[in-house]
Amino acid sequence: MPENYFGERVAERYDESAAEMFEPAVVDPVVDFLADLAGQGAALELGIGTGRIALPLTQRGVRVHGIDLSAAMVERLREKPGAADIGVTIGDFATTNVEGTFSLAYLVFNTINNLTTQEGQVACFQNVAAHLEPGGCFVIEVEIPALQRLPPGETVRALTVSPTRLGFDEFDVATQGVVSHHYWAADGKLGVFSQPFRYVWPSELDLMARLAGMSLRERWSDWNREPFTSDSRSHVSVWEKDAERAGTEGPEK
Ligand SMILES: C[S@@+](CC[C@H](N)C(=O)[O-])C[C@H]1O[C@@H](n2cnc3c(N)ncnc32)[C@H](O)[C@@H]1O
Repeated sequence: MPENYFGERVAERYDESAAEMFEPAVVDPVVDFLADLAGQGAALELGIGTGRIALPLTQRGVRVHGIDLSAAMVERLREKPGAADIGVTIGDFATTNVEGTFSLAYLVFNTINNLTTQEGQVACFQNVAAHLEPGGCFVIEVEIPALQRLPPGETVRALTVSPTRLGFDEFDVATQGVVSHHYWAADGKLGVFSQPFRYVWPSELDLMARLAGMSLRERWSDWNREPFTSDSRSHVSVWEKDAERAGTEGPEK
């Protein structure tokens, strides 16, 4: 099982620290996009967390099931109105099997990068394919690796520099690894937190999808369907499970 970086200490501050991501201006386009794709079917959220997207999507009438490694994050979801309508399985979304099939699976807010090996990311696509109905869609929202902002020979890029808070990404381009280091001063003490990620290119994700029997259907730079270009800093991609491969690919369910 991968290491859980969303324990109690992170979970209790998650909604507050990501407050701008809970704004209707951010959430509504995501929910519109996903509700359209789900249609009358059910949706599977990988890394459901505290329900930022799953709760409003459920309110739109979509049945949602979630997978998450962190019992602490899911406990926060359980405290919220409407959570009783959402089933959650605790486990690694690269390998966890859940009951039923889905018209939609989605993995938002850069969370594919939480799988720190190519093998894990490939397994995630295989696992999704095993849960999707033929013609079902997998949606990923993830940043474009920020390598163009890394001067030649440098490995560290500043994320935040303020009198009370510092954050840096440390890149290892040989392994596509990046460790985010965070330091903050509070009550005269220094808080420290580092988390590893694996950055991944759109073309590599397309290949992972093909290995799992899915094909690219749409790629946008955001949830409002702005065009994806060489200047885009992130993308929202949709792969569709190939009808002819249905039932022949992916791990046993
Ligand atoms: C950045 S949060 C996103 C939560 C939610 N999707 C949102 O948009 O607010 C990432 C979530 O993914 C979960 N997670 C990370 N790696 C995971 C894995 N391998 N399997 C299952 N859950 C994972 C974390 O526990 C956390 O709840």
